[in-house]
Amino acid sequence: MTLREIEPIASETPRVERDPDEYVAMQKVTRQIAFEDGGWDPERKERIAQLFEGLAPEWHTRGGEDRLRPTRDALSRGGIPSGGTALEIGSGTGIHTPVLLDRFGFVISVDLVKEMLDLSPRPDRTALVRADAAALPLADGSADAVVCVNAFVFPSEYARVLRQDGYVVVVATSGDQTPIYLPPGDVTAALERQLGPVEAVTSRHGWGTWTVVRRAASSP
Ligand SMILES: C[S@@+](CC[C@H](N)C(=O)[O-])C[C@H]1O[C@@H](n2cnc3c(N)ncnc32)[C@H](O)[C@@H]1O
Repeated sequence: MTLREIEPIASETPRVERDPDEYVAMQKVTRQIAFEDGGWDPERKERIAQLFEGLAPEWHTRGGEDRLRPTRDALSRGGIPSGGTALEIGSGTGIHTPVLLDRFGFVISVDLVKEMLDLSPRPDRTALVRADAAALPLADGSADAVVCVNAFVFPSEYARVLRQDGYVVVVATSGDQTPIYLPPGDVTAALERQLGPVEAVTSRHGWGTWTVVRRAASSP
């Protein structure tokens, strides 16, 4: 595994410190989902769905240019080619979808929660799909990129739907104070267990962090 860290871009605004009670428990869940067999079971799925159903009506208040910048930066400095089809995992109310549309030809926005998708606009070149990211209704090798913005990493399912030379992009818009957050080394390690040897690059933009992972080019 190679994980290359590139120069961070400093924030222009002071960090709003979060109470650890707001993120520690969910970070533990995020880690279990990424690394443990049985980390995502029907009971947990039900609890997560209920949580986000309740948050859906006010989710649009979490927009703003500051929150979009880490994703823009990941797609740009992370070296993602233009065009192709991206899966936007845990798309919520679609706050980040326009950023993905600037880079990809088509975006399939996937969310577990109907209440989130009902509040999501439907721009051209997108499809909204209600599904569990642990069991995507998509063919093997059909995605050029899997993009998780503040969303869980399901390594085996992303490895299945990703093209051989595709990319997984993982963004946490509040960095290590994001509830759904895995440190870059853990993102890379969790995906490598399913993708085989990988090359990854990571950086920060403002208070957000991002990691881009792809299968390592095979030796001639
Ligand atoms: C923290 S929100 C992020 C929403 C959006 N990406 C953003 O940053 O504004 C996480 C989203 O993931 C969705 N989600 C949670 N578990 C999921 C799963 N197993 N499959 C698909 N979506 C899921 C939730 O419903 C929620 O909309």
